[in-house]
Amino acid sequence: RRVAILISGGGSNMLRLVEDMGRGDHPARPVLVLSNDPEAPGLAKAAALGIPTAAVDHRPFKGDRPAFEAALREKIDAARPDILCLAGFMRILTPSFIAHYAGRMLNIHPSLLPDYRGLHTHARALAAGETEHGCTVHEVTADLDAGPILGQARVPVKPGDTPATLAARVLEMEHCLYPAVLRRFAVGDRTPVRLP
Ligand code: GRF
Repeated sequence: RRVAILISGGGSNMLRLVEDMGRGDHPARPVLVLSNDPEAPGLAKAAALGIPTAAVDHRPFKGDRPAFEAALREKIDAARPDILCLAGFMRILTPSFIAHYAGRMLNIHPSLLPDYRGLHTHARALAAGETEHGCTVHEVTADLDAGPILGQARVPVKPGDTPATLAARVLEMEHCLYPAVLRRFAVGDRTPVRLP
């Protein structure tokens, strides 16, 4: 199976997915790392690993989301992926873009969905006094952060946690969860992964 990974920044989740696909027993392999930011540090990391990369800067498109997405699709479809993994990709995608990749686009979100959709999830969980937090891998559908859940990982909230310390703990689990989910999804197994 051919996997395209979309990033916006450091690409730590992308790196873990690529690393895992590099192990001999994996049913998938990376064919493209694409970013909406030409300066995304993850692009250089992917290129250093020999993975084809591309960037479509969203800024020149200003409010013209369909034109931005047409440029994305051109790069994506040229790589002929079977699966798209959004990994720290920070742009909202329109229902028509999502429909084009229906059933084969995944995203990782730093909360235990359906709780805390959207941004600033760690600060919001702390403000709400949560004792547990975590991350979710889901299929991408037209509703933001609401598609079928393919995996979840839980972490404890610790006394004195700040959004940064909690985010770091969650990110560590993202790096375990996403590769585990992709291994199953790549062979058509949608049994949710539950960690720990
Ligand atoms: C992190 O906040 C992570 O929780 C979310 O995307 C952001 C960047 O991740 N999934 P990455 O290091 O670019 O994968």
